[in-house]
Formats: sequence, C-alpha cells, structure tokens
Amino acid sequence: MIFAANLKCNHTRASFENYAKEINSYQNNEDEIFIFPPSTAFSNLKLNFFQGAQNFYPCKNGAYTGEIAQEHLEEFNIQSVLIGHSERRTLGESEEFLRAKFDFAKNLGYNIIYCIGESLETKQAKKSLDFLKNQLDNIDLNYNKLIIAYEPIYSIGTGVSADSKDIEEVLNFLSQFGSNKFLYGGSVNQENIKTICSLKNCHGVLVGSAALKADNFLKMIQIAKG
Ligand code: PGA
Repeated sequence: MIFAANLKCNHTRASFENYAKEINSYQNNEDEIFIFPPSTAFSNLKLNFFQGAQNFYPCKNGAYTGEIAQEHLEEFNIQSVLIGHSERRTLGESEEFLRAKFDFAKNLGYNIIYCIGESLETKQAKKSLDFLKNQLDNIDLNYNKLIIAYEPIYSIGTGVSADSKDIEEVLNFLSQFGSNKFLYGGSVNQENIKTICSLKNCHGVLVGSAALKADNFLKMIQIAKG
C-alpha cells in the first residue's frame, strides 16, 4: 500500500528532524511511504521513506524569486513531488502551469503524486466524473511513476471524509483510463483508514492533519494493515 503524508505549512526544520527519525524507525518492506515536509525542513538524513516536495518551480534554477527548483530538490536527493493539490490550485496554479510542472517532473523521472478533486457544488450538480476526467486530460496517464490522488475539495481539512460509495465510484470510473495507482485523500484518520484502504482500486491514502504527528501516522499505517 501507499501511505503519503502532506505536512503542508507545518513543522520546522527541528521538529521535522524528529518526525523523520520516528518514521525511519518503522521497518517496512512492503509499503511505500511518502512524506512531504515544508521545503525549509528537507532532511539530509538517510531516510527509509520517500521525502517529497509539496511544491517546486519547473526549472533547474534561475530568476524566479521565492521559488525552489530542481537543483534545490536534488541537493536533498528529492525525486518525488506533489502536483495539483487543491490548496495550490486555489493559490492560482492553472491547468497550463500544472501541465508544465508535470512534464518537467516526468522528464526527470520523478515520482509524481498528482491531485485532483471536485468541489461540493460540482458534486451536487452530478458533474463529478466529467470534471475529474477533464483534470486528468491535462497529463500523461501512461507515465509509470504517476500516482493519482483523488481528494474531493469538500473533504479536505473538514474532518468529514467522502462517502465510501462515492470514493469507490470515482476510482472505478478513473481506473478505466489507465493502469494507474490511486490514493484517496481528505480527512483520512484512524477511524476511517481501514475502510478506505480496502475500497476497490484504492492503493493507499494521502493524509494531512492526521499525519502531523509521526506516531499518529504510524498508528494509521498499522490500522490499515492490521
Ligand atoms: P486532510 O488533508 O487529511 O487534513 O484533510 C489532506 C490533504 O490536503 O492532502
């Protein structure tokens, strides 16, 4: 299974060092664990999980004030990136820009967790499937290091995950377009992780708030597998 933690704008360099050590202590040969810390907290430790970047600018380096780029990721041996998270889309990342990020990361052979998700209005208008398919039309689904994270916007950070029935319907629908792996994200916690991970076509989860403490995240992994 795939367990990914998006720490968003939380954790400092000092606190993430402890976090990384705690996750490192988890011995595991079967699962893929991705952790996305803030870029100021990237770790130089030898890690037994994939450390990833929440954001990057699609260039090697250059005159892009405030951005981080390929050189900065590679200094920390980072080869996994999150693209398309709804919080970044809200900050103004267009489909065109997401495509540029995707193509850039793909050309470098990075692992890409590409997030898609619809709003409550779209869901209520029964337009979810078309909307999500459109979001995927932007990228190359044949890229073999692509993982798609379905994160309905109405479930992110709300404490209420989407309905299992709805998640399953969406993942079944999306799985007909390629042989991709799918994660679900949006208020995943200790109570619902096992059910979510056992849904058809669900290969794991992308967790925000419930993963802010390493012991919580490790407990969730145990529950999902137990
Ligand atoms: P959440 O965040 O688990 O706090 O809902 C998930 C995400 O934004 O990836």
